[in-house]
Amino acid sequence: MSDPSRPKGPKIIAITNQKGGVGKTTTAINLGAALAEEGKVVLLVDLDPQGNASTGLGVHREQRGLSTYDLLLEEVPLQDVVRKTDLENLFIAPATTDLSSADIELVSNEKRIFLLHDSLRAPLVADLGYDYVLIDCPPSLNLLTINAMVAAHSVLVPLQSEFFALEGLSQLMLTIREVRQTANKELRIEGVALTMYDARNNLSKQVEADARENLGDLVFSTVIPRNVRVSEAPSFAMPVLTYDPLSKGTTAYRHLARELIARN
Ligand SMILES: Nc1ncnc2c1ncn2[C@@H]1O[C@H](COP(=O)(O)OP(=O)(O)O)[C@@H](O)[C@H]1O
Ligand SMILES: [Mg+2]
Repeated sequence: MSDPSRPKGPKIIAITNQKGGVGKTTTAINLGAALAEEGKVVLLVDLDPQGNASTGLGVHREQRGLSTYDLLLEEVPLQDVVRKTDLENLFIAPATTDLSSADIELVSNEKRIFLLHDSLRAPLVADLGYDYVLIDCPPSLNLLTINAMVAAHSVLVPLQSEFFALEGLSQLMLTIREVRQTANKELRIEGVALTMYDARNNLSKQVEADARENLGDLVFSTVIPRNVRVSEAPSFAMPVLTYDPLSKGTTAYRHLARELIARN
């Protein structure tokens, strides 16, 4: 169902945290797959030069063709970059390693922070029928991440349930505020998702308690457990939902998808 208060076109969510290894890509793939399973048409935009989301969904390096680099720097239209995945309703705009130089190439471009916005918010995109666009961001607050924040309606922050998790958050919140004040005043925080949660570990519980105390309702009630099936799935080029439909990771990402849909 689309939100009548929002203009036509997909809901665009940037999945971001400048820390690496916190579960951004894993969340992009599996939340995307879970939303697709709920019947939503989902586009995952891989904005990390490492291209892990592309590999994890079975788009191999040698067959990537046009990529998000072309989307940003060559102004290739979105529909020429998008590929199908093995999952019905789930599409991907893959990343190639060229994207690692994009950050520098963008500096001299006067539209540098609006390029992804102009591409994803183009009137034609509304006709492509996506319900959600999830942007998998690189592990830094660079121009690629700023492009994602300027293009997005909201930001979803995966937070690894470990010590220091909350430390980088103030910098992230500051950046979000800056983007709001300058280029995208509508940018909201969709929510913070605790990832790699270990219920037997007191530290996980402590991080959860701190996050809920400091961030309140921004923290999704769904918590993503640490689950080996989740980490194995990408090497089989599948979301955990297809790799192991009965795993705890699968159940958690399904819950997260339903919570996200309910929030919208
Ligand atoms: N819920 C989870 N359970 C177990 N391993 C996980 C889970 N989420 C992520 N991982 C693993 O942690 C590592 C970092 O996750 P990733 O999604 O690539 O982080 P990021 O994109 O933020 O750098 C990967 O090896 C991934 O397989
Ligand atoms: Mg990643």
